[in-house]
Amino acid sequence: MIQLFVIVFLGLLASSLWRHFRYLSKWDHLPGHSSWTSLPLIGHMYRLGTTPIESLHALNRRFGDVFRLDSGPWPAVWLCDYDQITEAMKKDVFSARPHHLIPGIQQSWENDKDGCFGIVFASGKRWAEQRKFLSQYLASSKDSFDDIIGDEASRLCNQVSSLIESKSGVVSLIGKFSEPTNRVLWRTVTGKPVEDKIASWLNDVIRDVFRMAERAKISHLLQMTTSFAAPTAKALGLENIIDKKNNILDFLADEKARTLPDPEGNFMERFMVEAGKAVPGSSFYGEDCQKNLESSLASVLLAGTDTVSAFLEWFVLYMTVFPDVQEKFFREIETVIGSRSATLKDRACTHYVEATLQEITRHCPHLALTVQHYTTADTKVGGYFIPKGTQVYYFSGAVFYNKDFFKDPATFRPERFIDTKGEFVSDERVIYFGTGKRRCVGEILGRAEQYLFSVALVQAFKFGAPEGQRPELGYIPGLNMHANQFSSKITPRF
Ligand code: HEM
Repeated sequence: MIQLFVIVFLGLLASSLWRHFRYLSKWDHLPGHSSWTSLPLIGHMYRLGTTPIESLHALNRRFGDVFRLDSGPWPAVWLCDYDQITEAMKKDVFSARPHHLIPGIQQSWENDKDGCFGIVFASGKRWAEQRKFLSQYLASSKDSFDDIIGDEASRLCNQVSSLIESKSGVVSLIGKFSEPTNRVLWRTVTGKPVEDKIASWLNDVIRDVFRMAERAKISHLLQMTTSFAAPTAKALGLENIIDKKNNILDFLADEKARTLPDPEGNFMERFMVEAGKAVPGSSFYGEDCQKNLESSLASVLLAGTDTVSAFLEWFVLYMTVFPDVQEKFFREIETVIGSRSATLKDRACTHYVEATLQEITRHCPHLALTVQHYTTADTKVGGYFIPKGTQVYYFSGAVFYNKDFFKDPATFRPERFIDTKGEFVSDERVIYFGTGKRRCVGEILGRAEQYLFSVALVQAFKFGAPEGQRPELGYIPGLNMHANQFSSKITPRF
């Protein structure tokens, strides 16, 4: 028995040393944590603890604007300086995703030798074509945003009204924004009303996927970082990412079977028009077409729902914690919009509202980090050599809290984005939607939802702290940081 133990131990030691000298040490010239402290499966992620944002700020202060901190078993470099981030993210060499380094992603997403299909985890020509198609579709749908989001916002306000009646006004809205944001996306991509069956399917599937990806238990972590864990979990009948993926794909295949090509139609109908014109090598051609359609739609549903609903939770929390800001926000709506439904045209005249939304996105931890990128060739950032095959993250939080850009960065003050004429000044350094070639492709819809939902909520309700409580701006760690559980005292305004 002891002999077996010694053999296994020596085997593990030999493979770690081999991995260290042949692979991980290639990144040891960078500031940050070295390969000797990069653990199997989790890399340096244990260094982030339960407060990743504060830990990343501390690493930035200690090591500078470019540092190494391995995410999972693979080397990763983190960028913190605005100029270096924006310069790097404009370049092709930083525009790929490391899907193959994360076996869980590979198993849960359709892929082949060129990488994943669709958009979020895709790279190269296929990613560029699919991204362009979605971007054009969203731009051409923007005239419908007022109606779709306005409708869902008033439905949401009715639900909040019923909720506060039944709970004497003290209510938690955490989790209450997923359904309206899912419904907006579904209506935007299908052009159809949302049937109840679809609404509940969307909610269940999306909630499950995020629960697995973000609030990772050890079994979920193993499924993401190893190739054997997901099939093993499936074989044992445990919750697994393969089934989650199959649920999404089966549902989308059903929807596609009912769809015919139409150049003026919805996302799927226009996609099928592209398929009819496609030539070999195109991502709309042959078998790849179906895989790209499914993965692009899955990209939209996953990237576009939890982001907006998490933002709305933060919005309500900020309104609850900062009543003076809420009051000014409401006064401006009252003066400029009155009691009618807001439209996107109102944005040009609601300067304080715009400034508040921008300040929340700067101040709160929601998207202080982004999805990882991957270098496709040797390159440089800030004078440091970055080898081909490096995962690259940018820590937007370092830019948002840079004292040279934002005076007293920890202070929440929407007025910092209002000029001497009382007008809103957009600041390009608030890279909340990302920057460069991978910048959020759904930004046009995301911003429309932020505006119309936030205005509708404050127009209808006053949010205050429940008696004897002062909710705090705490967060739940994840890629998309959610606000901690909190309640507000919600009073109808009319
Ligand atoms: C509050 C709202 C949103 C925020 C803050 C947000 C933010 C982001 C960020 C930071 C990225 C990654 C950028 C990078 O990798 O460098 C991203 C990517 C993406 N977002 Fe959004 N997003 C939002 C809403 C949406 C919506 C509504 C959609 C869908 C219509 C969407 C679709 C996507 C897609 C498909 C990508 C991947 C782009 C690519 O890899 O090329 N997002 N988003």
